[in-house]
Amino acid sequence: MRRGIVAANWKMHGSRALVASLLGALREELSGKVLCELVICPPSPYLEQARQLLSGSTLQLGAQNCYIHARGAYTGEVSASMLDDLGCRYVLVGHSERRALFGENDALVAQKFEAVQAQGLVPILCVGETLRERQDGRTAEVVMAQVQAVIDRSGVAALGKAVLAYEPIWAIGSGLSATPEQAQEVHAYLRGQVGDLAQRVARRLPILYGGSVKAANAAELFGQPDIDGGLIGGASLEADEFAGICRSWQGRKG
Ligand code: PGA
Repeated sequence: MRRGIVAANWKMHGSRALVASLLGALREELSGKVLCELVICPPSPYLEQARQLLSGSTLQLGAQNCYIHARGAYTGEVSASMLDDLGCRYVLVGHSERRALFGENDALVAQKFEAVQAQGLVPILCVGETLRERQDGRTAEVVMAQVQAVIDRSGVAALGKAVLAYEPIWAIGSGLSATPEQAQEVHAYLRGQVGDLAQRVARRLPILYGGSVKAANAAELFGQPDIDGGLIGGASLEADEFAGICRSWQGRKG
């Protein structure tokens, strides 16, 4: 059976006070109490504080981004080796905000994916279509092209040590989640495409759904056969809401 993962993407939100209160509450409510992996991705300046607060708990640390090189004259960037040093296990790669606002194309995302794995960390590769692309019937083509760029560079076997996150761009931060059926359709398609190349990799590949997941809709989404957890933005900044989402995992697939 595939492992379930619920990951919190705090984006550019937080302060030392919020990190302390939110992680304190989540540790209390969730550590050792849910059956899926839990990953917290705070902004990078707070990784060390988060590492200390999560130490000894079952919650894991992740980062939201990293650069392609391990070190060098790259002002403002953070490397996978630094994230490793700070205790991160996961790194988000290719989030749609990075693609849209910071000009990250498929080739750069594939390089980042490779850099994360080269450091022994686990990339969470985010893919998703715009509303226009969905309306034009191009969802499958767009999301698979984003995955294919990584396969072309690292090989399909590399997905065996990675996580995919399907995040329709029109659902992110909009309050308008994909329906469980819409999400399941894309997840099944992606798994099928990967399966055509490597069945074993596809069967084990966790595919998370992201985009306006809340405690109120998580159980329905997580109940779909190819949805293996969630990548949670806004709702991950409220302890009760995020804990509710994580608990929705329980009992989902028998
Ligand atoms: P959202 O964001 O849950 O606020 O829609 C999800 C994401 O961008 O990862």
